[in-house]
Amino acid sequence: MSFPTIGVVVSTTRPARIGPKVAGWVAGLAPYGTEVEIVDLAAIGLPFLADGQMPSAGEYDQPSTIAWSERVRGYDALVLTVAEYNGGYPAVLKNALDTLHAEWNGLPVGVVGYGWGGATAATGALATVLDRLQTVRLDGPGLRFGEDLTPEGEVLEAAPEDAVRGLFDQLVAAARERGSVTA
Ligand SMILES: Cc1cc2nc3c(=O)[nH]c(=O)nc-3n(C[C@H](O)[C@H](O)[C@H](O)COP(=O)(O)O)c2cc1C
Repeated sequence: MSFPTIGVVVSTTRPARIGPKVAGWVAGLAPYGTEVEIVDLAAIGLPFLADGQMPSAGEYDQPSTIAWSERVRGYDALVLTVAEYNGGYPAVLKNALDTLHAEWNGLPVGVVGYGWGGATAATGALATVLDRLQTVRLDGPGLRFGEDLTPEGEVLEAAPEDAVRGLFDQLVAAARERGSVTA
């Protein structure tokens, strides 16, 4: 039996970011029987679309793209933690998505936003892209500053733990349905 492996993505890279705290809280809610890994886009450090061919060709020449492709293929599902920047989602996340193509097709991808209004503008914009990439998109909660989270990234008591746990359950079910997890 192999445990489903789920990556929890930190979508921000600025020096004072709270993204790792949000992703750490999300990862801590994963159910028993899953393997969870933080996927920090700052550490991954992808250049902006540096390959010679279109991502849809699947013929990567950049070692960073090859490594990113192998990493994404190694997950049964992902959770994207998504900050809201000026009514959108971070450019680094868009680049990480655009850099690959076939890897996203059929991959269960959960979304957890954070921002003043729960990052609904960011996650709404992201939904269009995740659907275009043919992920199996599963919408999770949006954390609101002042209610669920402080601007410094401390998670408050009202934070929707059950909704995140439910999201993990849906991701595992979707991975089983896809056949990437057999037990
Ligand atoms: C460039 C920039 C734009 C922002 N725009 C928004 C916004 O449109 N809506 C919002 O709720 N918060 C906005 N914020 C506040 C962020 O949600 C908040 O700083 C959050 O901590 C960002 O995630 P990070 O710390 O992981 O970078 C913005 C922050 C930055 C740096």
